[in-house]
Amino acid sequence: MMEQQYLWWQKEVIYQIYPRSFQDSTGDGVGDLKGIISRLDYLQWLGIKAVWLSPIYPSPMADFGYDVSDYCGIHPLFGTMEDFDELLQEIHKRGMKLILDLVPNHSSNEHPWFLESKSSRDNPKRDWYIWKDAAEDGGEPNNWLSVFGGSGWEWDEHTQQYYYHAFLKEQPDLNWRNPEVQEAMMGVMRFWLEKGVDGFRVDVIYHIIKDDKFRDNPPNPDYKPSMSTYEQQLASYSTDQPEVHDIVKMMRNLLNQYDERLLIGEIYLPIHRLVTYYGNELDGAHLPFNFVLINIDWNATKIASVINEYEGALPEGGWPNWVIGNHDQPRITSRVGNEQAKIAAMLLLTLRGTPTMYYGDELGMRDVPIPQDEVQDPQGLNMPDLDLSRDPARTPMQWNDSENAGFTEGKPWLRLAKNYKRVNVAKQKDDEYSMLSYYKRLIELRQQEPALHVGAFEPVFTNSSIISYIRKHEQTQFLVILNLSHKPCKFAPEHHHYKGTVVLATDPEQEGSTLDKTIALAGDEGLIVQLDA
Ligand code: NOJ
Repeated sequence: MMEQQYLWWQKEVIYQIYPRSFQDSTGDGVGDLKGIISRLDYLQWLGIKAVWLSPIYPSPMADFGYDVSDYCGIHPLFGTMEDFDELLQEIHKRGMKLILDLVPNHSSNEHPWFLESKSSRDNPKRDWYIWKDAAEDGGEPNNWLSVFGGSGWEWDEHTQQYYYHAFLKEQPDLNWRNPEVQEAMMGVMRFWLEKGVDGFRVDVIYHIIKDDKFRDNPPNPDYKPSMSTYEQQLASYSTDQPEVHDIVKMMRNLLNQYDERLLIGEIYLPIHRLVTYYGNELDGAHLPFNFVLINIDWNATKIASVINEYEGALPEGGWPNWVIGNHDQPRITSRVGNEQAKIAAMLLLTLRGTPTMYYGDELGMRDVPIPQDEVQDPQGLNMPDLDLSRDPARTPMQWNDSENAGFTEGKPWLRLAKNYKRVNVAKQKDDEYSMLSYYKRLIELRQQEPALHVGAFEPVFTNSSIISYIRKHEQTQFLVILNLSHKPCKFAPEHHHYKGTVVLATDPEQEGSTLDKTIALAGDEGLIVQLDA
């Protein structure tokens, strides 16, 4: 039998860097490209083979770079195009890959395209954005809301029409039904692909096409006042339209003209909708980001069932992926607690599929409380009573115990965690029991063992506080056992007699222990057991 070939992005771990917060090299308090270059050796040491950067393009920063005013440039805050070229070269030199964030659903309102579009109704770029007349009563064209609060429509006095923005009014949505827009964005992608970037993480790819009749969105029957105002509705007509798949395919076709470039889609949808983004013929995104572990209660039974649901829903040949944190979500350590954070890491790094991790999670960095008068995130500022600010998960990386944790010599743009003198890379590197050492070992084992990076997945049913499964490649089998509770428990499946040795554990003291039908776990304990051949 021919040995199946796997691609780099199937085997490796993706690491997300939020460039503002990783490493500052200039003393302005904001991270930059040169800073990232100086930390590549760290990432290599950790075993990272692919880096995804949140946007680094010129931007007025209304949404911290997700409002792009030049798709083919570098924001001076982050450096120059020469710095970018150097970064790409340094990344490739280390055998690593670079994935850029692409934000095609909307531009900044200061992008020259929008400035032209709003200049007059007969401007050639008028139709590049979504302009609509007022409703008969003079109100908004329909009831669509903005994700960041309030209406999705903004009135333009000058041309007497509304434009649609799914996010801030400073982020007008592009009209992807217009072939000129499609061509322009393909040009942007080509620009970066020619430079040699290895792929894109496409921002809110499922938003790109809207209902052509602009029908009202229906109310959300499950809405509760603690949710964001956007969630009052189901975005049935403003997102996930059938025609979106033509656009995803168009992007994929472009990437296919190059070798092994990766298309990731940012998609917050239920599993059965999410998997449609692989494309009917696997001609869509390589990896529609799977966020099920982000939204789910931290409960073994629920998680085990959602893993199976996802595995079962994947189209044949569709490659799975898992995410436990990003710059829009509370950090995993804050969500599940310090004790369970190691369990989350073991889950992420042993499930079948490409894992994406978020900078700082490898240290157990936690959400940092940001005083109201220091809040930067527009989502936090626009809905102050709902505790939706994303700043707490975006604080500077904790490198060492020097002032500002070695992140900057200036004043950091967001305050640091108070615990940085204890919780930092330098300290944890030297401590074999630290979170960082644990992550490094997990990544190493995952890389060394085909069973863990490309092996088959088989659920194992046992006690309700445990998630358990086998990863298997040829003769090698690993049994993963995760105790999601704080209490001790026993792994004792009724119908199987598993035998093996613990090779990696949340508490290294367990390593070398043997499993012979049953094994006892401490609270919050996770084990990787190599089964006897
Ligand atoms: C998703 C991004 O991850 C988020 O940070 C951003 O605010 C919105 N898309 C709008 O671009």
